[in-house]
Amino acid sequence: MKILWAITGAGHLLKESIHVIDELSQKHEITIALSNAGLEVVKKYGYMTKLEEIRDKKPENMIVCDEDEKYSYPLSGKITHEKYDLIIVSPTTANTTAKIVHAIADTLVTNIVAQSGKGRIPLLIVPVDQKEGIITTKIPPYIKKDACQKCEECKPGNICPKKAINPPNINTIQCINCMKCRNKCPHNALITDKEIELYIRKIDAENTAKLEEIENIKTIFHPEDILEEDVLN
Ligand SMILES: Cc1cc2nc3c(=O)[nH]c(=O)nc-3n(C[C@H](O)[C@H](O)[C@H](O)COP(=O)(O)O)c2cc1C
Repeated sequence: MKILWAITGAGHLLKESIHVIDELSQKHEITIALSNAGLEVVKKYGYMTKLEEIRDKKPENMIVCDEDEKYSYPLSGKITHEKYDLIIVSPTTANTTAKIVHAIADTLVTNIVAQSGKGRIPLLIVPVDQKEGIITTKIPPYIKKDACQKCEECKPGNICPKKAINPPNINTIQCINCMKCRNKCPHNALITDKEIELYIRKIDAENTAKLEEIENIKTIFHPEDILEEDVLN
């Protein structure tokens, strides 16, 4: 089966999504499409190497980034011709969900969604903002400014393979979340495993509910549930 899996810029359900992509890549051909924010967030959480490993499992596999496409999104046009058997968007940000329910197609991922409808290809969407209320999510590493002593020899900075740590800042675009800096700051200024609470807004939960009204789209609430879908078995 030929699967197109799109990733948008959500940290929530990202690890779980990549785990399922890895599982599916044992049996299926996979193209991974990344929105601009998707690419940044994947790098921030340190999953780019994993995605490249998945791509390298089969010569037909590909990673396609929004930034490599032009304004008319040629890849999304190919969807109808190349006949993907299944399209999955997971995780899907509140932003992309809002665009989908308003039929806006102005990014790689929203164009893929629009074209999947035109090509009548089954589409599974895993939205991150599911129900109004509070969720817990892990954030990428950061430096506590009031604890950082700006040491001349910054231990985490010296160990960072991407030279992303310049006290009291981390360049979050360069950081690949390898966690080599974990517990290396003697002043405990570098925080690597912080969880925060986020409030899911009513409007975002309402947009998620509207996804089901769109022909061709099936909403899935956890990436692992994709493995149980009839279309795959
Ligand atoms: C580290 C990080 C994590 C994020 N996690 C989420 C998230 O879980 N859900 C969400 O809706 N947006 C999240 N965002 C914000 C989106 O990336 C942002 O709204 C972006 O514009 C979405 O673009 P896209 O929908 O084209 O991918 C996150 C941003 C960052 C920097």
